[in-house]
Amino acid sequence: MFPNPAAWVVVVVALWSQAGALDNGLARTPTMGWLSWERFMCNTDCEGDPENCISESLYMEMADLMTAEGWKEAGYQFICIDDCWMAPKRDAGGRLQADPHRFPAGIKKLAEYVHSKGLKLGIYADVGRNTCAGYPGSLGHYDVDAQTFAEWDVDLLKFDGCSMDVSLVEQGYVNMSRALNRTGRPILYSCEWPLHKWRSQTPNYTAISQTCNQWRNFVDIYDSWSSVKSILDWTAAHQDIVVPSAGPGGWNDPDMLVIGNFGLSGDQQESQMALWAIMAAPLLMSNDLRSICGRSKELLQNRQIIAINQDELGKQGYRTATVDHFEVWERPLSNGRLAIAVLNTLEIGSARKFSSEKVPGWKLCTPFCNITQILPQYEEVGVQTGYRVSVNPSGTALLIIEPIGSRGKRYHGILQSEKLTYL
Ligand SMILES: *[C@@H]1O[C@H](CO)[C@@H](O)[C@H](O)[C@H]1NC(C)=O
Ligand SMILES: *[C@@H]1O[C@H](CO)[C@@H](O)[C@H](O)[C@H]1NC(C)=O
Ligand SMILES: *[C@@H]1O[C@H](CO)[C@@H](O)[C@H](O)[C@H]1NC(C)=O
Repeated sequence: MFPNPAAWVVVVVALWSQAGALDNGLARTPTMGWLSWERFMCNTDCEGDPENCISESLYMEMADLMTAEGWKEAGYQFICIDDCWMAPKRDAGGRLQADPHRFPAGIKKLAEYVHSKGLKLGIYADVGRNTCAGYPGSLGHYDVDAQTFAEWDVDLLKFDGCSMDVSLVEQGYVNMSRALNRTGRPILYSCEWPLHKWRSQTPNYTAISQTCNQWRNFVDIYDSWSSVKSILDWTAAHQDIVVPSAGPGGWNDPDMLVIGNFGLSGDQQESQMALWAIMAAPLLMSNDLRSICGRSKELLQNRQIIAINQDELGKQGYRTATVDHFEVWERPLSNGRLAIAVLNTLEIGSARKFSSEKVPGWKLCTPFCNITQILPQYEEVGVQTGYRVSVNPSGTALLIIEPIGSRGKRYHGILQSEKLTYL
């Protein structure tokens, strides 16, 4: 844990120069898109449930909606396939092949379709002997599989970590990263290396960020508040290890957004969106864009929250205080601004007031800050010294503050030249 924000800044400065990201030009900001797993899982029953089974038409429909319903304009770009797209066996040439009944036109055609919409296609494979659902794994086939994905014009690979000897996890992920590089096609590389490595030891995050564009640290998300909360708790408990490794080119991945499904209340959906923005997390929705409600859609397309997520400074935020059943999370933004999320962790009662003096980073507001409230609703609050906000149970208030100097001058670069002075 960071004892105080000043200590945190020292950690960042120390690691800044040594954390080199994977040099494939991708993921300069966190990935945005749609991924089938949490909502559609491994539904292969296209006879009984043609609308919801893992098939090329599912991904084509989502691609259609991404362009027709404003998702692409909001920044969502990738349509990602997860497990269960494969045929049960490799082809005669030893290559992975799509299930011929559910993907009759094949992945290359699907990529062409997705590209024709101005979007990108993600695919899924596994570092070990089998995928998590038992389809062919890539162990021993990294080069041929990387070549296959490149020939199909795939843009992202989610590389899962099932059926793999824990002592070979690092080698496997590094070897696949090199195989992808050798294809010459830039393919965004999403790893589960740390998730599987944590079982035996603390993963080497320097090596991970040199190898992958994003990486899962913790177990799969479920469609529930307890699941979202457990991911936040894990991240806060390990932030001194995981936060410094994130930056342009490589991001910690707390797993999919489950906003627009069945398990989260409106306030809890706002909490997930706000905290995923603070964590500089990939924004990969797993929901049904055909039937999503207006409120969830508006939240997922909220330009101010997306701008925090995609901020060009590229620093992941972290939890800075827990007080009175509130958690305070802060993320340094470009132009000397700070994003602040205040999560009310009490799951009983009604809205409670939270006062800005309990936010460690509020020190920046001497004498004033220009305050913008983004959640619970957008409001340009203006120049003030302090602020009080009301937060519903399991809801989150989200603010951006911009320090104003004594002569009305703005300070720039919280984590750059003035870092030690102001934090
Ligand atoms: C990774 O590549 C190295 C060098 O080619 C090889 O010795 C090693 O067995 C590979 N490991 C895995 C898990 O593929
Ligand atoms: C392969 O790696 C080299 C060296 O890191 C990098 O310059 C190049 O852009 C990479 N190519 C791809 C396709 O990722
Ligand atoms: C972690 O990985 C980096 C980069 O590959 C390497 O230089 C360093 O020695 C590794 N650290 C440990 C403790 O193994």
